[in-house]
Amino acid sequence: MWDYTDKVMDLFYNPKNQGELEDSTEPGIKIAVGEVGSIACGDALRLHLKVEETTEKILEARYQTFGCTSAIASSEALVDLIQGSTLDEALKVTNKEIADYLGGLPQAKMHCSVMGQEALEAAIYNYRGIAPEVHEDDDEGALVCTCFGISDTKIKRVIRENNLTTAEEVTNYVKAGGGCGSCLATIDDIIESVRQESAAPSGNSLKKNTASQQAEKPLTPVQKIALIQKVLDEEVRPVLIADGGDVELYDVDGDSVKVLLQGACGSCSSSTATLKIAIESRLRDRVSKDLVVEAVEPSLL
Ligand code: FES
Repeated sequence: MWDYTDKVMDLFYNPKNQGELEDSTEPGIKIAVGEVGSIACGDALRLHLKVEETTEKILEARYQTFGCTSAIASSEALVDLIQGSTLDEALKVTNKEIADYLGGLPQAKMHCSVMGQEALEAAIYNYRGIAPEVHEDDDEGALVCTCFGISDTKIKRVIRENNLTTAEEVTNYVKAGGGCGSCLATIDDIIESVRQESAAPSGNSLKKNTASQQAEKPLTPVQKIALIQKVLDEEVRPVLIADGGDVELYDVDGDSVKVLLQGACGSCSSSTATLKIAIESRLRDRVSKDLVVEAVEPSLL
């Protein structure tokens, strides 16, 4: 049993705004319709807006929702929030305001508030003759969750607007990750990229260590060696140790980095690949793109 607020239960048992609005023949009045979700995914919402054309005021709104208690209550909340406002004012309504109006929603039901906000946007875009939100970066990799058809743009937006920090929260808000789960690692990466974007203006220490920033302000030789050692200790060695191997920094001369591979890594036939992939690419990314990693043969020391 979900822990719903009294407001949610009241709106669910006493809905006032269900139904649809017929196309209007009234002069100066237009009906806009927006639809999101799909019954196959468990929730669908169709929103109808009666708009006064001269003022763009929403005179009336109705919805048809297929979904659970929180989906119905979120639809009711949405209509209460937008009725009487202009389209521009309505566009500013966030999913958080819908949830707040309800006195909160269980985390696993937050996607219902997102669905209401999206139906509203779809209706307004339809009214204005704007194609459904076009994602500037709808190129390679834009579709993150194939189970629910969720793009990276949508995931980034919900992360920013609701300060989400875990993939589980993203699933609660937009369902992405809640099917086969194969997109969860990508969602983690998106959360991290949003976190880094928002931290960028303050110039956090992680950013300062990237190769691109290093290019703006070259490291001194001592700083470079210290950073290489840090990356090896914190990001490379734990992976190798878990695989029965290890690495030790032997020398740094300009962009040449010499390392000693130990344990399983030293005797492994794929040690060259280990070097290039696990060590060199990581150091190039984190310290300098010009670094070249070489293994030192222990018997030659
Ligand atoms: S691809 Fe996202 S849950 Fe399956």
